[in-house]
Amino acid sequence: MTPVRGLPAATATAHANIALIKYWGKADDDLIIPVTPSLSLTLDALYTTTTVRFGAVAADTATLDGEPVTGKAMARIVALLDLVRQRAGIDLAAEVTSVNTVPTAAGLASSASGFAALAGAAAAAAGLDLTDRELSRLARRGSGSASRSIFGGLAVWHAGTDDETSYAEPVADPTGLAEKLAMVVLVLDAGEKSVSSREGMRRTVQTSPDYRPWVEAHAGHLDEALAAVEAGDLPRLGAVAETNAAGMHATMRSAVPPVDYLTDASRAALQAVRDAREAGLPAWATMDAGPNVKVLTSAGRAVEVDAWLRDRLAASAPGLATVVAYAGPGLTVTREATA
Ligand code: DP6
Repeated sequence: MTPVRGLPAATATAHANIALIKYWGKADDDLIIPVTPSLSLTLDALYTTTTVRFGAVAADTATLDGEPVTGKAMARIVALLDLVRQRAGIDLAAEVTSVNTVPTAAGLASSASGFAALAGAAAAAAGLDLTDRELSRLARRGSGSASRSIFGGLAVWHAGTDDETSYAEPVADPTGLAEKLAMVVLVLDAGEKSVSSREGMRRTVQTSPDYRPWVEAHAGHLDEALAAVEAGDLPRLGAVAETNAAGMHATMRSAVPPVDYLTDASRAALQAVRDAREAGLPAWATMDAGPNVKVLTSAGRAVEVDAWLRDRLAASAPGLATVVAYAGPGLTVTREATA
């Protein structure tokens, strides 16, 4: 057997999450402390698997789906690796290999699963034994939404005020609502988004007159959503999720210059979701930093909702692809056995 140089490798898989109550805006850009808490559903169908090995290369390298990662994306990976090296007291370069089932940067939360998997794999490869809460805080430093992808099902990210207090954890779910939920993702455009969520939220916080009012309403939205989860009430959860997301996009549209992720296809999809509801289907829309529309529905009727929406949108969005996703698991990590 050829001996492999370096420390044993570790591999982690993390699933994407979609926020039902959104994170949009940072109180601390460097530590990624959000202005608001947020609530998300982790999805089974969308995930990233990442392997990290320290000490086998001379300088940090990373590939995503076989392509080398460069520029700003690489700088963010190196910054997270630096945090891990610092904590583990090692000074070794890392080889990072990542495979994504999430269309990258199309507002399908690839940074959430990506940085959660990177945090899990890098920490284990560096010999660190971190708790889920510590992993959530570490993943947060890569991308805020990644803090929630450490956990399966429904997770809440407490905004906190500093590195210690800003972390995600599973939501109390006495009726097992997470397992009864599904998301139909309407992939209207899988291309790269024009304004990153990082830039979009910075601009919104700094210039939008609607941002503070949205933040003020946000606390009530989260309380309402948590009460809906407590009661196992999907229509109540869906209604507040839709309101919260629509409000977030309104804050962006009044930023200077405006940030508008909605395309004609997005607007047609939002109308179709309202029509589906009129027709008696459980369907509520949410959107992130891209044109795609994610439809919260029930696990039992997701296939029906998917078919109904595809049929309704056949004319206005001919290239439409959809993904039907259910509640997904939390982070899993395996470490290569030492020889
Ligand atoms: C619209 O987590 O991608 O998806 O912390 O700057 O990396 P950074 O941003 P990111 O923002 C996600 C914003 C959102 C809403 C959400 O996931 O809560």
